[in-house]
Amino acid sequence: MRKPIIAGNWKMNKTAAEAEKLINELKPLVAKSKPEVVICVPYTDLWIAKNAIAGSKIKLGAENVAWADSGAFTGEISAAMLKEIGVEYVIIGHSERRQYFGETDKTVNMRLVQALKNDLKPIVCVGETLEEREKNKTKKVLKKQILEGFDGITDFTNIVIAYEPVWAIGTGKTATAEDANKTIGYIRSLIKKTFGAEVAKNLRIQYGGSMKPGNAKELMAMRNIDGGLIGGAALKAEDFAGIVNYKG
Ligand code: 13P
Repeated sequence: MRKPIIAGNWKMNKTAAEAEKLINELKPLVAKSKPEVVICVPYTDLWIAKNAIAGSKIKLGAENVAWADSGAFTGEISAAMLKEIGVEYVIIGHSERRQYFGETDKTVNMRLVQALKNDLKPIVCVGETLEEREKNKTKKVLKKQILEGFDGITDFTNIVIAYEPVWAIGTGKTATAEDANKTIGYIRSLIKKTFGAEVAKNLRIQYGGSMKPGNAKELMAMRNIDGGLIGGAALKAEDFAGIVNYKG
């Protein structure tokens, strides 16, 4: 059985003081949650978030990790720095990093290797743009992202994949539950073919893109969808809790 995992991706939102407030509002609302609950917060919020989640079920994540151990990489944050704070999860290869900051499948792979080496649990994002979708290139794009992004990886125990169609991010357009399920099914079949049936069976794959309390139940009912990676709705305690508690 794959345990559902709902993760918030705060992106570049919330100062440290705002982060503490949001977590304090969120804690009682998710106290009885069944899925695994993660918040991936900006680096500057990590310490305060670590203290604020103490005693709750909420787990801590970062939004990226450097591929090198240390050294001359201005602006990067290392796995050791994250581990010392108590970070457990790390998002890798979000489409916004691919789109605005030159992230490639190769650098995704390098960051992934580094995360695993340091016992961080990666949430690796894949997904097609609107243009790619309209040109019927979704499968081709996903295949490249997965084969290159996961090149050389053998142990998937701690890995989560987030399928985030770029056209559904922050747009209010959600993939229909059937559509998301079908595409995630394709990702799972590709994983099966490349890395084996056991890996495919146990690997958790989230959907991300305008997921809200109102559509979470339908999406989570799909057999291939094991969770959500939530942007906008993770910034309000009731909305995020509404997704986490999708079963009611
Ligand atoms: P939205 O939920 O705001 O569409 O963002 C999804 C996302 O990019 C999560 O990583």
